[in-house]
Amino acid sequence: MSKWREEIDVQQKLNRKYEKLYTAIYEDVESASAEIAQYIADLIRKKEEKGEKCVLGLATGSSPIGVYNELVRMHKEEGLSFKNVVTFNLDEYYPMEAGHIQSYVHFMHEHLFNHIDILPENVNIPDGTIAQEDSYAFCQEYEQKIKSMGGLDLQVLGIGRSGHIGFNEPGSGLNSPTRLISLDTMTIADAAGDFGAVENVPRRALTMGIETIMSARDVVFMAWGEKKASILKQTVEGDITDLIPATYLQKHPNVKVYLDSAAAAKLIRINTPWLVRDIEWNDKTIKKAVIWLCEKLDKPILKLTNQDYNDNSLSSIVANHGAAYDINLKVFKMLQKSITGWPGGKPESDSGKPERAMPYPKKILVFSPRPADDVIAMGGTLKRLIQQGHNVHVAYQTSGNIAVSDDEVLKFLDVVKDFSPLSKTVQAKYQLIRDFLSGKGVGDVDNREVRSIKTIIRKGEAISACRFLGIPEVNVHFLEMPFYETGMINKASLTHKDIELTVEVLRRLQPTQVYAAGDLTDPHGTRRKCLNALTRSLDIVKEDDWYSDCWTWLYKGAWQEWDISDVDMAIPISPEELITKRLSIFKHSTQKDMLYPGVEDMEVWRFSENRNRATAQMLDKLGMAEYEAVEMFVKY
Ligand code: F6R
Repeated sequence: MSKWREEIDVQQKLNRKYEKLYTAIYEDVESASAEIAQYIADLIRKKEEKGEKCVLGLATGSSPIGVYNELVRMHKEEGLSFKNVVTFNLDEYYPMEAGHIQSYVHFMHEHLFNHIDILPENVNIPDGTIAQEDSYAFCQEYEQKIKSMGGLDLQVLGIGRSGHIGFNEPGSGLNSPTRLISLDTMTIADAAGDFGAVENVPRRALTMGIETIMSARDVVFMAWGEKKASILKQTVEGDITDLIPATYLQKHPNVKVYLDSAAAAKLIRINTPWLVRDIEWNDKTIKKAVIWLCEKLDKPILKLTNQDYNDNSLSSIVANHGAAYDINLKVFKMLQKSITGWPGGKPESDSGKPERAMPYPKKILVFSPRPADDVIAMGGTLKRLIQQGHNVHVAYQTSGNIAVSDDEVLKFLDVVKDFSPLSKTVQAKYQLIRDFLSGKGVGDVDNREVRSIKTIIRKGEAISACRFLGIPEVNVHFLEMPFYETGMINKASLTHKDIELTVEVLRRLQPTQVYAAGDLTDPHGTRRKCLNALTRSLDIVKEDDWYSDCWTWLYKGAWQEWDISDVDMAIPISPEELITKRLSIFKHSTQKDMLYPGVEDMEVWRFSENRNRATAQMLDKLGMAEYEAVEMFVKY
């Protein structure tokens, strides 16, 4: 029985009160994607047996990539044929040339059509090159064509953070037809990475309408990563509203929602399971429930009463684990224990600290997915570790070169050119690169030379930040993992070489403490791949002697933070340390002007400070000591 069926049978009966869409939650994106692909393949085969065409509505974006990979595998290894398949894509940017690297035409061919036996005449994607005055007629024809094929048998959907399906942005009506629309600010911000900058993102798109999507006989809807958790909660549990067009799916009779655990994290059954069913109370669940109760009632832990527990579906804790007084104290102590000024362990005083005192000093290896992730997420902790005498190394997993603008390259080149005015090689190279950059169009990929200069720039900044914090240059390691080096936002899959590089640095340094980014954001994104590479590498070295003495701590990358109830170690940061942290972030000067997607005027250092201050305030509200800022870690 498929995981999805099981979920329906077991979970959904319980959750119907809260979840308005049938939802299955998977451990990881790979297993969910494989199941969706199997579902699509079964439909294609069933239709083929009946001698009918299978009409599929398809989506682009990062979400369905795993599904398309799996369909391609099934075509190559299991003989799945697409000869009876007709496809209609949801959308295309407007205006957009088909040959442009960011066009959805390019995307679909790269990820699916080029690798299967679909007939070219059966592929339909909205045409981003039509004249604006022809767009109305074009959209009408697109819909007519779908109808003439008998309608969509199955629609594949992802969801944008704005709540869009297709490019039906907030405000789209239930009956909206296929049309030319203007994109939401959040959608534009989210696409900025793909296009190199916000200014380059087309402001409009052609999209299949809500009405057309709703007319599909079957809908497969998927979302992965913590970035989608909030909008998913509103889509699955919220009321139907045109402010979140995805909620219209609640009116569709046949929608299956596939989530990974990160995207499902805010659903009631996951976040507050005690509201849905009887749960097993242990230290972890009690801590989570008590912190939730404090936030709900705006009370510190030690002021919660028996009545508070009883009135808020938590009477079973009181019934089984003693009175409010005892439970409060237990959770208060748990939190207190996790707060320490000694991230590497406090020498000679082991008791009740999150880290061991010995060995001292520790050899510490901090993995940073890109240059700057280390200081953004744990700059204060890094400074402490160094001050407390530990031997700190940093391994930058990828080059991060894609985030350096062309103008920065020119700035550095000018220095080199003027530094070596007599060197013909330098002058010739300078001219070559200048010519390349001036001929470069929006979204064009850099050549090797420019990429390597961008890598060098980021290396220099990383070394400078480390030097500033007191980490010697010999302790700075650049893995330059190959999966990252596509020159584009879309990264390649992890290969043997990526794992080999990670294992090599681990075995060479044999650390006693490791820090790494524990992000579960975009599954195809850099941070998640870096985490996968690390966990796979740890699996390889786990039999090594040194590994039994090595503890691993996970921090969150730039834009997310751990849930306080999951945290095992919280490091208070003083006002002075926070400024040191800020200055270390500033050493990554090419990244200084990067704004937080969707939040105007929010540079990364500010976002990072806000996040650390918010944690401190949260702890304060729970009744803990009042700190300026706090960095948080979860034990791996
Ligand atoms: C793509 C589309 C969009 C995406 C959505 C999520 O054809 O219609 O609705 O599904 O923006 O994008 P990703 O998957 O990149 O997060």
